[in-house]
Amino acid sequence: MKRVIAFLLLVTSAPWSMAASEKLPLDSVYINLSDTASLQRGARLFVNYCLSCHSAAYMRYRRIGEDLGISEDLLKENLMFAGDKPGDLMKTTMPADYAKSWFGVVPPDLTLAARVRKPDWIYTYLRSFYLDEKSPSGWNNSLFQNVAMPHVLYGLQGNQRLVSKSSEEDGKPVFMLEQPGSMTPEEYDEAMRDLTNFLVYLGEPVKLDRYLIGVFVILFLAVLLVLSYLLKKEYWKELH
Ligand code: HEC
Repeated sequence: MKRVIAFLLLVTSAPWSMAASEKLPLDSVYINLSDTASLQRGARLFVNYCLSCHSAAYMRYRRIGEDLGISEDLLKENLMFAGDKPGDLMKTTMPADYAKSWFGVVPPDLTLAARVRKPDWIYTYLRSFYLDEKSPSGWNNSLFQNVAMPHVLYGLQGNQRLVSKSSEEDGKPVFMLEQPGSMTPEEYDEAMRDLTNFLVYLGEPVKLDRYLIGVFVILFLAVLLVLSYLLKKEYWKELH
């Protein structure tokens, strides 16, 4: 009986929670996987600011080097922790049990994050951290209330406060930059676009190859069509 009740609760509550998260207005981000420079900048941000807690354990450093045109030397110098090899998977060095005791949850693997959450969500999330003395980390996030992740990019963005949860114009939260970071707000938005672009690439690195394969398949079929036509003519030649 208990199970039935639990099941019913789950079924009836799920649409509510989904509706609540869908209602939050997101900022849209322009994703362009052929912008290699943006992907390279995103990769650099990811390795320097995210990999200490999150893994991208379905991806190898070498593949990033090959896809984004980064030489092995540059890869080692800029994107890899000392001791890692180009063939290694991108795993965080933080042990899961430490993370659990520090944050209360293990930071999730980010290889597929942009597919699960969608690019606009990630882009908005990374720009929605604000100071909150009531939260254990000192930070909160208007898109992900009481998030366990601290704002690791505050050095770049600066510290912002939440002025209003939803403005009257577009329903989006309003922030006030209390102390600027090393980037201007425009530069920070651009950097977050690069990082989101990189996370989209991480989620589906074959996307670009797929377009190319499509073209080859069409070409192959066209050649096959000509050959089959000639073959047909050859077979029927004597029968007419
Ligand atoms: C200090 C550790 C730490 C660092 C560094 C960190 N995160 Fe997190 N992150 C977390 C934790 C912990 C969570 C889980 C939050 C929760 O469930 O409340 C999280 C959650 C997330 C989520 C939400 C995942 C989901 O779908 O629920 C995303 C996206 C994310 N982080 C992206 C990033 C990015 C991008 C960076 C680099 C700029 C980064 N994080 C750096 C600790 C970290």
